[in-house]
Amino acid sequence: MTVHLLSKPPILRHVHQEPIAAIPETLNQPSIREIEQLPYLSAVITEGLRLATSQRQTRIGPHEVMTFKESASGKHSPVGMAVPLIHLSPGVFTDPYTYDPKRFIENPSLKRYVMTFSLGSRQCLGMQLAYTELYLLLSEIWRRFGGEEEDKGPEGWWQLWETDRSDADMARDKFVPYPKKKSKGIRIVVRK
Ligand code: HEM
Repeated sequence: MTVHLLSKPPILRHVHQEPIAAIPETLNQPSIREIEQLPYLSAVITEGLRLATSQRQTRIGPHEVMTFKESASGKHSPVGMAVPLIHLSPGVFTDPYTYDPKRFIENPSLKRYVMTFSLGSRQCLGMQLAYTELYLLLSEIWRRFGGEEEDKGPEGWWQLWETDRSDADMARDKFVPYPKKKSKGIRIVVRK
């Protein structure tokens, strides 16, 4: 999310200004309930999760034959689906490789296709904790800091250092997405 935001100044400007306008009191840490109501930040997080999900989620039906369209699996046969087949499908998300949070503002029902935490009875048990961490961390960072071409935040601004999108894009699947092998990771300089 950080690479996308720092590469796209208009999106960063929006995410930097939204919590300042909605929660102007900067002395106290805003409550998670207030932060979760920020629509643009929510869309930024959902879009970041969409592009940062790998995994082939496997399931086995021990007692029944599972059918999908014309096909049927035998009992005990593992079946699975790689999440990027949905997250990066142009039939579901227009221009799927573009980081564009406003797609979820214009069409909130798209969120039902985001499977980062899986769905159903084996959905991630820590999902709410993970969301809380993302909301608290991102809102606090971008309230305090801005980007190079943006309003500099009260505590400075962030700049990507020898880092581009290829350091964030999934090139390998190790349950979590990994970037290209030669990537040195995501490097940021914090400036005053
Ligand atoms: C962004 C962060 C996270 C992501 C993307 C994530 C993703 C997932 C996914 C996709 C599954 C389902 C795997 C499957 O269906 O085979 C899962 C399961 C699980 N996750 Fe997470 N998770 C995250 C954070 C957490 C945290 C913070 C906790 C706990 C503190 C947690 C605890 C669990 C547990 C216990 C399960 C197993 C649930 C079950 O099988 O019934 N996860 N997670």
